[in-house]
Amino acid sequence: MSSWCRILTVVATVLHLQEPACGAPGASPACVLTWSGQIIAGKLEDGVCKTTVRYGSAKRWEDSVAVTSQSGIHATELPPSCPQITANPTQGQSSSEDCLMATIYAPVGARQLPALIWLHGGSYSIGSASAPGLDGSELAKKGKIVVIFLQYRLNVLGLIPPQSAPSASDPNLQVRDVILGLKEIRKNLGWQVDTSKVTLGGQSTGASLIRGLLVAPGTQGLFQRMILQSDPFAYGMAPMAETNNFRGRIFSHPALGGVTGFADLQAASLENVMSAARAVFSEARVQVPDAPIGQPFRPTYDTPTIPKEPTAEIFNNAGGLSVSPANVPLLITSTADDGAASVPPNLLSYLFLEPLLKRLLGDSGTQVVLTWSAYNITNDSADKRPDVAKIITDAAFRCSAREAARKWAAAGGRVYVGEFREGVHYPFNDQCSFCTGKVCHMDDILPTFGQGGAFATMITDTWLTFIKNGEPDGWAPFASSNGVDGAGVKALGGDGVVPACQADFWGNAVKWHWQLTA
Ligand SMILES: *[C@@H]1O[C@H](CO)[C@@H](O)[C@H](O)[C@H]1NC(C)=O
Ligand SMILES: *[C@@H]1O[C@H](CO)[C@@H](O)[C@H](O)[C@H]1NC(C)=O
Repeated sequence: MSSWCRILTVVATVLHLQEPACGAPGASPACVLTWSGQIIAGKLEDGVCKTTVRYGSAKRWEDSVAVTSQSGIHATELPPSCPQITANPTQGQSSSEDCLMATIYAPVGARQLPALIWLHGGSYSIGSASAPGLDGSELAKKGKIVVIFLQYRLNVLGLIPPQSAPSASDPNLQVRDVILGLKEIRKNLGWQVDTSKVTLGGQSTGASLIRGLLVAPGTQGLFQRMILQSDPFAYGMAPMAETNNFRGRIFSHPALGGVTGFADLQAASLENVMSAARAVFSEARVQVPDAPIGQPFRPTYDTPTIPKEPTAEIFNNAGGLSVSPANVPLLITSTADDGAASVPPNLLSYLFLEPLLKRLLGDSGTQVVLTWSAYNITNDSADKRPDVAKIITDAAFRCSAREAARKWAAAGGRVYVGEFREGVHYPFNDQCSFCTGKVCHMDDILPTFGQGGAFATMITDTWLTFIKNGEPDGWAPFASSNGVDGAGVKALGGDGVVPACQADFWGNAVKWHWQLTA
């Protein structure tokens, strides 16, 4: 233990405080903060303190509570991930059920700085604060802001408690983890962070989770601006019947050996729980065809935590959200080829196009799309993946985001809409040969955090002005009078071209997934 840490330990003893967490390798006296009354020291690198804290603890399928102890925390390292639905997607990072942690990047001596709190994506079922590219150092250093990556429980552990759990009727443990985290950051980082300048941002289902918070009671005032990147806006949250369907399948799976009592399920081996969940997740396409492609497990609405379907509320009643659009400027982006990572790995023939589209668009919507002139889909032997990629990009991301922006503006909110026409290849897309040469889903992550040359510099400079002032430099707000044709949408890099969405097509002639299943 270093001498400064020894002194802090003596001070803590005299003051009857818990032993400080400052003995980790690389801990710096310049990076000392307190969390729940305990002294923690992070690591100093190039003027930025990087500190991992535990914000909550929870028994399996029970609500998380604020922690009083950082015991066992490795404050100078990235946290273990929450258990993942797929094996080892976080490139060797360990995982643990004790994962309600946040990693904080703050300029040394931070005092009352604006903050960006980021929710990672990953279909509500994978991802972590240690995912590639989630490094807040560059934004913290360049922008003099605090950047925080907040972890939350995933998949069956965060979304689908068993029927015998006290949380069964309001299964949104994941959403409540996020709310607890936001409150704990406010409570514990009041010295470092200007709590009137908190931006809540997320990518993919990290952004969808923020959508859920817009109808959740008690979230007003926890953040003052929002960044939604590549939010799959076509998909809403789950009705209880769907969650019950998944619950029945998971907890009757042979891997759990017929155990139903809550205490027994809490004591069951994590491996057995995860293998039951993994089997149901991968069969969801067949067994629960109403659930979204690629993100079958999701938060549940009509519950105390999420009283209404949040997407429907934004589109139909944005003035009635628990977070008022007039108080929260919104920056919303998609990527040029957001849907391209969702296509099958091999050539897709016309024969298989229809069943695939039906899962996203329903029967009648599929027929409309197949014969619509703008997509010009021909019944021939050519590969239909380019068609599918374009349709998913439009339906799930580009066009639904523009429509949401119109609603936000109509409800009195300020909103900025952009499309990444350029990106930086994200490691998770390594397996997707179809993504080569495209701006795929996730290719916005590295530039958002300052990795990727001049383009990344342009993005971070712009994002920082939004985070600090609620107005991104050189970017006019989107007006409710704008259509969805692309006028008012900022092209970010690349060819500078913004493709059009056809008025009254998506959401009307062809319904969005959330309209089909609500
Ligand atoms: C539709 O596709 C066919 C075959 O690829 C092509 O010959 C035709 O010009 C296209 N029409 C339009 C309107 O794009
Ligand atoms: C597509 O073409 C095949 C082969 O010519 C034909 O059997 C099939 O009915 C066509 N499908 C549609 C929807 O027109």
